[in-house]
Amino acid sequence: MEKYIMAIDQGTTSTRAIIYNHQGENVGSYQKEFDQIFPHGGWVEHNANHIWNSVQSVIAGAFIESGLKPEQIEGIGITNQRETTVIWDKETGTPIYNAIVWQSRQTAAIANQLKEAGHTEMIRQKTGLVIDAYFSATKIRWILDHVDGAQERAEKGELLFGTIDSWIVWKLTDGKCHVTDYSNAARTMLFNLKELDWDQEILDLLNIPRCMLPEVKSNSEVYGHTIPFHFYGAEVPIAGMAGDQQAALFGQLAFEPGMVKNTYGTGAFIIMNTGSDFQLSDNRLITTIAYGIDGEIHYALEGSIFVAGSAIQWLRDGMRLIQSSPESEDLARASKSEDEVYVVPAFTGLGAPYWNSDARGAVFGLSRGTSREDFVKATLQSLAYQTRDIIDTMEKDTGMPINVLKVDGGAAMNNYLMQFQADILGIEIARAQNLETTALGAAFLAGLAVGYWDDLEELKTLNAVDQAFNPSMNNARKEQLYKGWTRAVKATQVFAD
Ligand code: G3P
Repeated sequence: MEKYIMAIDQGTTSTRAIIYNHQGENVGSYQKEFDQIFPHGGWVEHNANHIWNSVQSVIAGAFIESGLKPEQIEGIGITNQRETTVIWDKETGTPIYNAIVWQSRQTAAIANQLKEAGHTEMIRQKTGLVIDAYFSATKIRWILDHVDGAQERAEKGELLFGTIDSWIVWKLTDGKCHVTDYSNAARTMLFNLKELDWDQEILDLLNIPRCMLPEVKSNSEVYGHTIPFHFYGAEVPIAGMAGDQQAALFGQLAFEPGMVKNTYGTGAFIIMNTGSDFQLSDNRLITTIAYGIDGEIHYALEGSIFVAGSAIQWLRDGMRLIQSSPESEDLARASKSEDEVYVVPAFTGLGAPYWNSDARGAVFGLSRGTSREDFVKATLQSLAYQTRDIIDTMEKDTGMPINVLKVDGGAAMNNYLMQFQADILGIEIARAQNLETTALGAAFLAGLAVGYWDDLEELKTLNAVDQAFNPSMNNARKEQLYKGWTRAVKATQVFAD
């Protein structure tokens, strides 16, 4: 009986299951969207049971699409939207509140208190992170504060916390495994990246009981098995786990220090593998764990852009300037104006390297002649400019020149954007053949653990570069445009103050 690996990719707006064969080819997949909950301006929540429901549906869907049987799955890899926080009852498995999503700003006040109390440097040194509502720690505190009796119950060991990876594994194993992995733990703002353990000083500071936290595991090992009831009759090892952006780095085969990838999804997340040294940024990038396998940890620097693909969705659903995302490419090409129009899509504040929660979107450089085409072009260009902000910062931090940027995610299909990205960075953009690098990375991690693939050398043969974009803009024009962008971002922030 032919065997396969299944990846479950639980993202911010949808859940997917993809089944891979030995060649790393997708032989069947299924996707399901689920509801976004916006209880107040700036808040974003998910119903964790709906997420679980979507996981069950996509597993079934992938079997139907592929015609394969559950017994043919040799291992499962899980990858997930990171930071999103669930707290549930240990006995019943019922979440005590909605999952608070990574984008949500409802815990900004808790983050501000931590900053005002002078904990920025201590937290940076230990967790590699900038204090922000983005990470899980303040979200846990918020739920414990806002649900009646939650703090007391957590202290008694009746409640469990998990990011989405933990939640899915706990459900698939029917509560037998309460685990997470290095890459997800690194996003909680509670994990000591040097000691590779939950940090007691930060737990005490936030009054978070240690007993509610999952056990932290490597990214590639057998954590447990599905119970047959939740995997259509089969008991299959869950053998790989990583936050979606780290999984994408792995799927991009960025195993060497200095390799960098950008995934253009809802947001855009640029990660550089920095090898075995824990290295802090002097310029407000964050330090995180790329992956840990067989006791060897690879650290990474990351720049998180909160709005990327969602700016294109905004053009479609909010501004109604386009009818579909691919149309943005034709319109951008049709823009003939040389005017410098800048759209700063700071809809939920600005992420790295600015970290300004109060900033909001702005448009600069409009004239009477500005057209729909120009506006769409400027919005696409904002993804490339934000990427340059991060790449420049990474080079400054590491002193290493970046010559190639590996790209994936939906907007990486946009050839106009990829060429402009190459132009504004002045480096090669390498687009992977398999753009689903997140799911592929999770499958690789699981496949390594169960011996489906032998080693990294074998994986390197499984995802080639599909197309390279090389810079063609002259240097003076490139720098003039980028300077205009930096002025626009500065003005946006002045307005926020
Ligand atoms: O840090 C948030 C990130 O993991 C979300 O990724 O692809 O679900 O939007 P995505």
